[in-house]
Amino acid sequence: MTLIIAMDGPSGSGKSSAAKGVARVLGYRYLDTGAMYRAVTWWMLDQGVDVEDAATVALRAPEVSLEISTDPDAPGVFVGGADVSEPIRSAEVTGAVSAVSRVPEVRGLLVRLQREIMAAGAIVAEGRDIGTVVAPDAPVKVFLTASEEARAQRRAKEIANPSVSVQATQADQARRDKLDSTRATSPLTKADDAVEIDSTELGLAEVIDAVVRLVKERA
Ligand code: DC
Repeated sequence: MTLIIAMDGPSGSGKSSAAKGVARVLGYRYLDTGAMYRAVTWWMLDQGVDVEDAATVALRAPEVSLEISTDPDAPGVFVGGADVSEPIRSAEVTGAVSAVSRVPEVRGLLVRLQREIMAAGAIVAEGRDIGTVVAPDAPVKVFLTASEEARAQRRAKEIANPSVSVQATQADQARRDKLDSTRATSPLTKADDAVEIDSTELGLAEVIDAVVRLVKERA
């Protein structure tokens, strides 16, 4: 069985840093599935597609030629060969990604690609539906949470733009979490067999340690 560590949770829970850290400690590859949904969203916006028009998003999605690095020390996303790692983090993409990621055809395409990537060897995959949909047989599943305030503070720090307040980040995050948790296809939910880790009071190293311990217990 391929070793898959599934790490799901809402935005700002610290998933990306923790998943990368776990991958480094264990020598596994790393997959940021949120970056894949962001890359498709970036392409739709670049093409002038109205992201609220689900039928057009579904129709055009197969045109996106997407590649993603699985090196935790050199993560990168490429669309049509161009590195879009930075533009996919823009406020415009962040505001539009929930609309694109709720389209079942987009999810179908990306889940297939994610499974292909995972099949190539040991990997830590982070997202919203890894433990529930993409890799339901993963031997280790983590659901990472944190209080809404802690998550907004982390996001605001990541954005590092003094004109964006923690309050505005918290409001945008709450809107996105609601959309991601209530959509019809693969909503964000904790898998029954996932171990929940609340990172509100934990440092990054402690979260990484907790996950690595879990992997060793299950091995
Ligand atoms: O983790 P992130 O904030 O970069 O994810 C961006 C968006 O992609 C998020 O709003 C929900 C969506 N997403 C998803 O629907 N399924 C995944 N496996 C990963 C992300």
